[in-house]
Amino acid sequence: MSSDDPKIVHRYDDIEEEDNQMPNWWLFILFSTIVFMFGYWLVFHTTRQLQDPRTEYDAAIAEIKKARLAQAPLSDDAILAVAQDAAQLEEGKQVFATTCAACHAQEGQGLVGPNLTDRFWIHGNKPSEIAKSVADGFADKGMPPWGALLGQDKVRKVSAFVLSIKGKGLAGKEPQGEPLD
Ligand code: HEC
Repeated sequence: MSSDDPKIVHRYDDIEEEDNQMPNWWLFILFSTIVFMFGYWLVFHTTRQLQDPRTEYDAAIAEIKKARLAQAPLSDDAILAVAQDAAQLEEGKQVFATTCAACHAQEGQGLVGPNLTDRFWIHGNKPSEIAKSVADGFADKGMPPWGALLGQDKVRKVSAFVLSIKGKGLAGKEPQGEPLD
């Protein structure tokens, strides 16, 4: 038993504890992480000289989504995204009032063209199907194609507006086509 050993400060159950200086390599790592922490905090959270990884990731994802939309501007997703945005929906409403109301009536309840607020659809009621009806029209039935005249951006917005009145069930033109959910 080295009970008089001055290095031993504590003994319990034959386990001896010495009070040694922490090794320098260990202290070096400890202080390095503290210095690094301040640097990281300054650069990413205080001065924001660099984007923090989370923001950078979100921006990259948003970029990818935008590119996908650009490739498929009249896809269901693209139109649903516009339908979530009040400002773009309002623009769609304006387009409807000036371009579509003459045949589909102000509220979309139908005149020459079908009621767009009832459950009955001749050409489908998915967002992309509505956009196709708008863009290509039905020349033989009396609806001109609007794709070239309005451009994809407005076709997308007015289609989103049609989605927003879909199912309102306003009294108007008699049902045409099949009942759809
Ligand atoms: C000159 C009249 C006229 C104008 C203007 C017009 N439409 Fe139509 N639209 C029609 C007619 C007629 C039909 C029915 C086609 C058929 O019977 O196949 C129709 C069909 C549709 C359909 C398909 C409905 C279904 O039941 O499947 C949609 C959607 C539609 N129109 C949206 C619009 C939008 C949006 C605009 C404005 C950008 C517009 N229309 C402008 C006459 C018009």
